[in-house]
Amino acid sequence: METKTMNIKIEKAKTSKIDKVDFDNLAFGNVFTDHMLVCDYKNGSWNVPKIIPYQPISLDPSAKIFHYGQSIFEGMKAYKDENNDIWLFRPLDNCKRLNISAKRMAIPEIPEDYFMEGLTALLKLEKDWIPQTPGSSLYIRPFIFASGTGFHASPADEYKFIIAFAPSGAYFSGKVKVLIEEKYSRSANGGVGYAKAGGNYAGQFYPTQLALEKGYNQVIWTDDNTHEFIEEAGAMNIFVRINDTLVTAPTSDRILDGITRKSILKIAKDEGIAVEERKITVSEIVEAAKNGSLKEMFGAGTAAVISPISAFGFRDVDYDLPEIGDNYASLLKKRITDIQYNRAEDKFGWRVKV
Ligand code: PLP
Ligand code: COI
Repeated sequence: METKTMNIKIEKAKTSKIDKVDFDNLAFGNVFTDHMLVCDYKNGSWNVPKIIPYQPISLDPSAKIFHYGQSIFEGMKAYKDENNDIWLFRPLDNCKRLNISAKRMAIPEIPEDYFMEGLTALLKLEKDWIPQTPGSSLYIRPFIFASGTGFHASPADEYKFIIAFAPSGAYFSGKVKVLIEEKYSRSANGGVGYAKAGGNYAGQFYPTQLALEKGYNQVIWTDDNTHEFIEEAGAMNIFVRINDTLVTAPTSDRILDGITRKSILKIAKDEGIAVEERKITVSEIVEAAKNGSLKEMFGAGTAAVISPISAFGFRDVDYDLPEIGDNYASLLKKRITDIQYNRAEDKFGWRVKV
């Protein structure tokens, strides 16, 4: 069956999988909804997106994604409030960042209206999939990859833009223990660290596996040049609280410019918290942990929301961060999620109704 919404053709799935999903016990990102949005780039332009049943994709073995890794993605969430209204959080920022990533990876930029109207149409169709259980939301994964063929090491001539949804619970199931990495690097000056390129994540897997084997959940990356400065974690930006000041590393071409990060900075300032965006040395954190001035560390990201860090490891020593009362992580998490789920005033104008 084919219907038309806003010029976006919708081919509906014959049956729905929704009844098989346990919405009270959602993990992160492993259950997918009934439909997806697909948009093809061919002959020098993006075709109008269409919505089709969620299904595997068939690709030629010489598709350049397999060989040269032209692949970028975004991560966003849709939230449902008590009145069943659906909300997005700063969605245009994700679209703009996808296009920043696209430019760096020599991928053609996606028109903003295709992104926004395609996403809105898909959300309206899949609205029953947006969980209302506390801490859950609909995780949204827009991505673009090179479907064009050939072994020549040059940008592809064809691409696919897809949006898929996964009703999801928390990204981390428990406390987060991180390892400050000194040997491997996530990104380098002049590299692609600021892009949400698939390869950035592939490159992290091996060092992260080594950290997991030692009992950590994530790696905190340091700068590739000196390994003296902490930058960000595998899937989130990092904040540290030294005494009552909240500090985070400045963005650069090595760090993802997180939407949660910049929102937290605004909210913290609004709360009257002293905030600094500056380089943070590993030795400063170790010293602060030793002298008791390191009160909190937490990660911030769409998937991770705000994830308190319970300990960090550096050079075979673990430094524990016991939870303190009146911590910034809880306060800031409440403030941002209250905006996202439409439980509080949105004084910064970030929430977008679908
Ligand atoms: N840093 C990295 C490497 C990430 O993958 C993410 C997740 O998207 C973030 C930071 C946080 O970014 P955002 O808050 O926009 O989700
Ligand atoms: C997100 O927070 O949306 C991300 O993209 C992180 C992801 C690697 C799970």
